[in-house]
Amino acid sequence: MEEKKFKRTTVTAALPYANGGVHIGHLAGVYVPADIYVRYLRLKKREVVFIGGSDEHGVPITLRAKKEGITPQDVCDRYHKMIKDSFEEFGISFDVYSRTTSETHHKFASDFFRKLYDDGKLTEQVSEQYYDEEAHQFLADRYIMGECPHCGNPNAYGDQCEKCGSDLSPMELKNPHSTISGSQPVMKQTKNWYLPLNEYQEWLKQWILDGHKEWRSNVYGQCKSWLDMDLQPRAMTRDLDWGIPVPVKDAEGKVLYVWFDAPIGYISNTKEMCERDPERFGNWEKWWKDPETRLVHFIGKDNIVFHCLIFPTMLKPTATIFCPTTCRQTSSSTLRTTRFRRARTGRSGCTSTCAISKASRMCCAMCSRPTPRRPRTTTSRGKTFRSATTPSWWQYTETSSTARCN
Ligand code: MF3
Ligand code: ZN
Repeated sequence: MEEKKFKRTTVTAALPYANGGVHIGHLAGVYVPADIYVRYLRLKKREVVFIGGSDEHGVPITLRAKKEGITPQDVCDRYHKMIKDSFEEFGISFDVYSRTTSETHHKFASDFFRKLYDDGKLTEQVSEQYYDEEAHQFLADRYIMGECPHCGNPNAYGDQCEKCGSDLSPMELKNPHSTISGSQPVMKQTKNWYLPLNEYQEWLKQWILDGHKEWRSNVYGQCKSWLDMDLQPRAMTRDLDWGIPVPVKDAEGKVLYVWFDAPIGYISNTKEMCERDPERFGNWEKWWKDPETRLVHFIGKDNIVFHCLIFPTMLKPTATIFCPTTCRQTSSSTLRTTRFRRARTGRSGCTSTCAISKASRMCCAMCSRPTPRRPRTTTSRGKTFRSATTPSWWQYTETSSTARCN
């Protein structure tokens, strides 16, 4: 099939978490390839923008702040500057490098959520979650520790045992305790807002499996194996005190899920860039709404589900507004440094590594995790994909990462 000709290209590079520095694996896997691509388009005199920024919400930032006795904002300020400077020194030629704690982003993401909410596109669900009665707060999985049901490690986290590499849910831990107060948490009901991915399954199948056969084959294959299973509604809000407040009545103490607001950061950062220099960039809408604009994401492989299934589903109800017509996905090394310690499906038990990046291979070689449980496999277009050792579909990973898509 002949590739459609687009007038301009919006290139994004995954927004790194502002809780650590950039390392060579990030650069080799995501930012240098994206930068080369953008420089190539610029040389060809094509209209292109290169969007970056720091991802400044989420639990890991709050954990680091707590550990250091500073505020999450302090953590972000320190690492945002460090990361931004590193990119500059390394010559990564972003047209904008902003942050998800900016005012523009907070308003944009909040309005975006509110629009979905007002249009009835989100569902409300009550679930039971661990609550710390001494600290008076719900506990994110990482704030709960207990005994691993698989290997007996007494210091397993609510989402994973770092000793045996098993993925866990907090309910599986024996003798759970809160890392905030040390007390035993109790189950308490909480209301959150969900994106009903299940309702978009048929559309996603058609849009990706029929409409984007040109995507990199590993990305396509992963999407296919998720879409062959039943997608579940996914919570877009969290009980947490760091993030963008849920703009709905009676939602005190709740914030937007970091993976809800972060990809919106691509759009709000574009807006900030255009407002800074309207003469050069025009208005942000032309980079996000015009069917003549092609959207290209450069991401780590842990990010595939968010960019290929969740973000498009968030955009779909507003399709008349945001209409990326195609999506070139480059998947390589992960952006999560913490994940280098996690063992899932990689050759040496480290999934966070990239088969094409020497730097990440080094990480992989240095990773001495035990081999995890054998994953299930699926085949697509002659390639074998391994699912994660957990049934949680969003944690699906695979090992080959050299294919490309248009
Ligand atoms: N911060 C995420 C990571 O490091 C990537 C976010 S990409 C975006 O894995 F789409 F959310 F912006
Ligand atoms: Zn264990």
